[in-house]
Amino acid sequence: MAELQNDNGREAWASRIGLILAMAGNAVGLGNFLRFPVQAAQNGGGAFMIPYFIALLLLGIPLMWVEWAIGRHAGIFGYGSAAGGFGTLVKSRRGAKIANYLGALGIAIPITFAIWYAYIESWTLAYSVFSVTGEYFGIIDFDSMRNFLQSFQGVQGGGHFSGITDQVFVFPYAALIFFLITISLNVWILSRGVAQGIERLAKIAMPTLFIFALILVVRAWTIGTPDPAKPENSFVNGLGYLWNPNFSQIANANAWLAAAGQIFFTLSIGTGSILTYASYLKQKDDIALTGLTTSITNEFAEVIFGGSLAIPIAVAFFGLAQTQEISQAAFDLPFAAMPMIFQKLPLGQLLGMMWFVLLFFAGITSSVALCSPAMAFLQEQMKMSRQKAAMIIGLILLCCGMPLILFFGHGFLNEMNFWSGTFGLVIFALIEVILFAWVFGMEGAWQEINAGADIRIPKIFKFIIQFVAPVYLIVLLLFWGIQQGIPTLLMTGQNPVDIPYLWGARLMMAGLAVAGIWLVARAYKRGTIR
Ligand code: PHE
Repeated sequence: MAELQNDNGREAWASRIGLILAMAGNAVGLGNFLRFPVQAAQNGGGAFMIPYFIALLLLGIPLMWVEWAIGRHAGIFGYGSAAGGFGTLVKSRRGAKIANYLGALGIAIPITFAIWYAYIESWTLAYSVFSVTGEYFGIIDFDSMRNFLQSFQGVQGGGHFSGITDQVFVFPYAALIFFLITISLNVWILSRGVAQGIERLAKIAMPTLFIFALILVVRAWTIGTPDPAKPENSFVNGLGYLWNPNFSQIANANAWLAAAGQIFFTLSIGTGSILTYASYLKQKDDIALTGLTTSITNEFAEVIFGGSLAIPIAVAFFGLAQTQEISQAAFDLPFAAMPMIFQKLPLGQLLGMMWFVLLFFAGITSSVALCSPAMAFLQEQMKMSRQKAAMIIGLILLCCGMPLILFFGHGFLNEMNFWSGTFGLVIFALIEVILFAWVFGMEGAWQEINAGADIRIPKIFKFIIQFVAPVYLIVLLLFWGIQQGIPTLLMTGQNPVDIPYLWGARLMMAGLAVAGIWLVARAYKRGTIR
């Protein structure tokens, strides 16, 4: 079949609906269903939505347009990632070079992100299978279900997946197998390219995800009061727990940081993956409406679907106090509490399958997005074939995923999550908006965003992009740096046993960043970036 090509011979999206689904697939992810409800519950419930929507309006949507615009602009010059793409925004040669080296972050951050993200994604695949086979059916109490999860993760010696009961170190072979399958699927999709791989995946995964989510939400709304003896344990009270505003949190800087962090994470802003997807647009394609549609679709999936599942369901079955306790450990809610509940519902295996397949589809459409900046760079700047580039990315995920799997219990994942899923995004977004609004210049930037636009973006957003967003980001960084960055950097409060492992995680991330910079240097040598 003939390849779909852009005006300049680069790969291209096959259709507008395919593009929208792919972008929505990029944004809608585990963050919507697992991260959002927990963040909201911990930071003021309904009141959290105030800093959340402010961050959406002042950071999320404007930066979404910025990243789309930089991406389309970069693509016209033949670049598919920030390394190369950032340089197109700067006039002077030296300036462009600095920008492109900063752009290496736009490869290193998403790849680091992809490593731990794909690991969680692989659990959802495993649990999809366990739902169909009924593997966890018959485990009757919550603690045993948690043990099942921990023995799957290899955190606890022995247990369900080792067949051996009292051993200190057990290789979590089941987790490794599902990780391998997940990586292979990602590699396979990436190796098929943008239209035949990513876009086709999105055309299957996104509608399925929406249908499954809808069925589960309807089911959730009809749960009522599972235990008539405890009328306070109801779905409605669960919604109340999640959504009743607690205004005492509004004055707490942490709620504002959490809200902005969630907006970045959920909209996929500040990693460079939206940039790469947008680089496959054509020069005259609309950004304004399609970028907005992506954001709205994501918010619908997050607030309506993400906000109705997990937490409210858990309250109905476990009560408020226990749900609060469960949601302290991020993965117990989806992987232990929900499987308990499926056992109590008619057609539980089917519902369980839907829940985990929905998560898996949400995950895989995002993980391929996280790998796509590296894909684009390896193909176009390192002149590799698609297959080879995809294989190399698979190897990176596998090799860097190994310590993550083996030392999971030592906080490896949290460490990677903080730097690549929280801190890095804000830094990268700040670089993007400064380069675009201030170095490239706001007049040109505004023209870029509005070129080919199918809607008229209110003029106020010009002001927001130029002034409000950068100031907001700097303030966030300062607060973050002081409140979380420094303690995280110094590993305050960490168990001394874990510290060497956390250094290992950092070393690995630093290695990935250096690799990104090295790649840019190679590309300069080869003359594939100028
Ligand atoms: N937005 C995705 C989610 O909500 C995660 C993601 C972030 C994907 C950045 C790509 C880039 O889970």
